[in-house]
Amino acid sequence: MNRTKEDKRKEILTAFEHRHATKAFDSTKKIPTEDWEIILEAARLSPSSFGYEPWSFLLIENTQVKEDLKEFSWGAVNSLNGTSHFVIALARKNVTAESSHVKHMVEDVFGLPFSPDAPQTQMFKQFQVKDFDLNSERSLFDWASKQTYIALANMMTTAALLEIDSCPIEGFNRTEVETYLSKKVLLDTTKFGVSYMLGLGYRTKEIPLKKRQTTDEILTVVE
Ligand SMILES: Cc1cc2nc3c(=O)[nH]c(=O)nc-3n(C[C@H](O)[C@H](O)[C@H](O)COP(=O)(O)O)c2cc1C
Repeated sequence: MNRTKEDKRKEILTAFEHRHATKAFDSTKKIPTEDWEIILEAARLSPSSFGYEPWSFLLIENTQVKEDLKEFSWGAVNSLNGTSHFVIALARKNVTAESSHVKHMVEDVFGLPFSPDAPQTQMFKQFQVKDFDLNSERSLFDWASKQTYIALANMMTTAALLEIDSCPIEGFNRTEVETYLSKKVLLDTTKFGVSYMLGLGYRTKEIPLKKRQTTDEILTVVE
């Protein structure tokens, strides 16, 4: 059967209305592998500045690690207790024109020669240093972290389209989580920092009504 544009619009809207930061998950329900793979693909195919993909994702399956994380992840306890899949998104540190990551992306992923003097490299440098003032380790990390949130939104929307629930999580102490993960050899803190966590699974309760500002409140049309 051919789906019309109207069908597609309805499907998208239903998914966005259905998506809800889920607080209680059914721990007996598992996301089918094929669905998880599509969610991950939505993250992998997400756009990034200059295409440099400053991210990496940890899928935490180890029950002891999940238990340990609760101590410094107050906003994740519900997800750690019941989700089928629990993700920690990492943002890459110090992604600059001189970094080995940019060289790797250009040479190994884009299949192009890398040179510090190439126009593309110089343009990237100018963008970081002049246009966006990315001149400190913290601003570089935050810039990378912002981009990981595009993957977050794409994962949550894809999950919602597949009737899978999710909860985005910033409710944790970053330093404590990073220290813990580095001790467990899950994280090299010279290369990555923790950006957010994401629980994925199935809700146990129906959702409260969504409360949002109106379109008029959030949109200004510049004619
Ligand atoms: C960046 C971000 C961080 C969040 N952190 C948490 C969290 O730590 N724990 C939690 O239960 N919900 C968290 N939420 C969920 C929000 O509270 C929720 O999205 C918001 O209240 C709107 O509700 P809705 O998503 O159900 O429409 C977070 C949401 C975002 C976007």
